[in-house]
Order: sequence, then C-alpha cells, then structure tokens
Amino acid sequence: VTLDIDPDAYDAGEHDSFMHKEMLEQPAAAERVLRGRLDERFGTAHLGGLNMDARETRAIRRVKILGCGSAYYVGQMGASLVEELARIPADAEAASEFRYRNPIIEPDTLYVAVSQSGETIDTLLAVQEIRRKGGRVIGLVNVVGSAIARECDGGIYLHAGPEVAVASTKALTNMFLGFALLALQLGRVRDLSIADGRRLIAGLQRLPGQIEEVLAQEDALAELAGRLAEAESLFFVGRVRGFPVAREGAQKFKEISYRHAEAYQTSELKHGPLALISPEVPTVAIVPEDELTDRNVGALHEIDARRGPLVVVTHDGVDLGGLAAERIVVPRNERELDPILLTVPLQLLAYHAALRLGHDIDKPRNLAKSVTVE
Ligand code: G6P
Repeated sequence: VTLDIDPDAYDAGEHDSFMHKEMLEQPAAAERVLRGRLDERFGTAHLGGLNMDARETRAIRRVKILGCGSAYYVGQMGASLVEELARIPADAEAASEFRYRNPIIEPDTLYVAVSQSGETIDTLLAVQEIRRKGGRVIGLVNVVGSAIARECDGGIYLHAGPEVAVASTKALTNMFLGFALLALQLGRVRDLSIADGRRLIAGLQRLPGQIEEVLAQEDALAELAGRLAEAESLFFVGRVRGFPVAREGAQKFKEISYRHAEAYQTSELKHGPLALISPEVPTVAIVPEDELTDRNVGALHEIDARRGPLVVVTHDGVDLGGLAAERIVVPRNERELDPILLTVPLQLLAYHAALRLGHDIDKPRNLAKSVTVE
C-alpha cells in the first residue's frame, strides 16, 4: 500500500523524469538545508529545532540512528560523521527491525529517526517504541508536519522540496547534510575545536558547487552506465566511510535497473564474493583519497587479476597502481564530507542504466515512495 503522491500536482518540466529533475536540483536543495544554520563565528551549527540546551546536548553518550532503505544507508554515513566529529559512539539500524528485538532504551542516548516522507510506518513505530520507553528522539525529516515529525521531541527539517521519484536523491543528500550539521553541533559542545568547526563549515559551503561539478559529468556517466546495464550482476564495494556509499549505490542500481547489485566491504571480498568475480561481473569501487587508499587498491588488484571489469569512484591524482579501471573523479572536500560527493555519480549511473533498459524511472516495479502499512 502506498501513500498517494499525485505527480500531476508537480511538473517535471523539460526532464524525462522526476528523478532526473530532482538529481539536478541537489545543489539548490543543499543550499537550503544549510541556510541560516552555519555559525562561522563559533564554528558550529544552529539547530533551534532540536529543543535541547547545551547541558542536555553534552549529556548525550550515544547516538542511535533509525531509517529504512536509503534513509538507513545515509544513517550509516551519519553515524560516521557523529563518531568522527563528536567522538560519540554512533550507529544506524534498519528501523524495520528495531522494535522486534525489545530494544534497550537508554536515557543518555539520542535517537535519530530519518525519513524523507515522515510517514514510513516502520520508522514511525520505532519512534513510538522509543518514546513509550521514555527515550528522546529527534527527526531528520523532509515533509513538514508529517507523522514522524509530529511524534519526535525535536528535529531538523531537510528543506529538499517535494520529492516524487521513488529513488531518493535530493532528500538523501540533505539527510547527509543534516547529519553533518548535527555532528558539528554535538562536536562543538564537546572536543571539536573552533578551527575544526570552521574547517567543516567551509567544506559545507563548498559542497553545493562541488555537487554541481559532479552533475556536469552526466554525459560521460551515461555512456558508462550503458555498458554497466549489460551486466546481469554487479558489485559495489567500499570500506569504512565508503561502505554506506557502496550500499546506497547498489540500492539505487537494483531499485531502478532491476539488475542484481550487491554491496560489500572491499576488505571482505577475499572472504567470499571473490569467487563470483569474472569478466561478466563488474565492480564499482569507492576509493577516495584517505588513510585506506592503498589497501583499497590492493584489494582491487585481486579483482583485476580475475579480469573483473572495474569502475573506480575516486579523487584526482589517486594512484591506482596500474589497475585496468574506468575512473569517475569527484572533487575533494574535507574527508568527513566526501561520502556525499562519492554518492552523486552513483545516482547518475543507476538512472542512466535504467533509462537505457527502458524502465519506468520514477515508479519502479514493486516499490512505493512511502510504505505506510506494515
Ligand atoms: C521506500 C522507498 C525508498 C525509501 C524508503 C524510506 O522503501 O522505496 O526509496 O528510501 O521507503 O522512505 P522515507 O520516506 O522514510 O525516507
């Protein structure tokens, strides 16, 4: 059962689909979620809607993030941001599983529900379970006044504008930015320095323009996607910060191209899936320039040796040690913020693969924009 969003109420304009329109809206949407929330003077974020004072914010000992589908994967990116910037233990869990394991609700944990629609029943029931047990939940929600937004103790509205396509793009990008703002504020009442706070603010301010640069590579990505669409099965791999990027990339690809796309940690390839690598099974690998680049490249040589086709999403100048790989180069930002720039080209790959295969981009088979019954 679906929540009916009437696409006729909106207009895709010159675009062939809402997904295409919404991908291209990302720079403007990103500006909106940041607007008025960056405090350069103190190197922090202003998030009035959280309804927490500095003392309450400081008392948080753990952050638990809950969402479904793409919101769950971006929640994993958010958990990394919170751990890196605020040094508070954080993790994400599928909201659909949470209430079934009689979860332990702790008073010093901040629970975060993430949802574009604010109506996903699994996420809503997770929020109700937490509140019933006396926990504090904030929402990262796009639709103002939605059920999840109303049930939470506070939150961060995402201001992405209406999202019609089932595959989430601009809302997902703004979820990531919402987490960056939250992590910045949590960090700055703890040990994150003012200099680091300002460094991140400058990074956030560069992001909309850098997303634009990635979107400008659409023609090259379309050509590559056409070739990937021929494969029956693909891997998307990454590690640490890059793993949720791979998960989200595989999710998008399977949702709209109907190809089998499986995400794996690059480090785990040798413990199983390497058996499936062959010239017929391409791998899209997330290899940013970071502390793991050399190890990532080492693992990819194992794929290369088995003649598995490779597409590497990376930064300019990264040494791939002679790998026979196609490169997708995205701009560098601060390392903590890189995941969202690595995610945007994967949206374009999924979109163009689905287009090439002639699928309904906005309404993939068997899926709904918002799942509102159990
Ligand atoms: C559905 C959609 C996904 C989406 C998920 C969560 O399953 O098909 O694309 O990520 O719901 O939606 P939400 O509105 O809670 O972000």
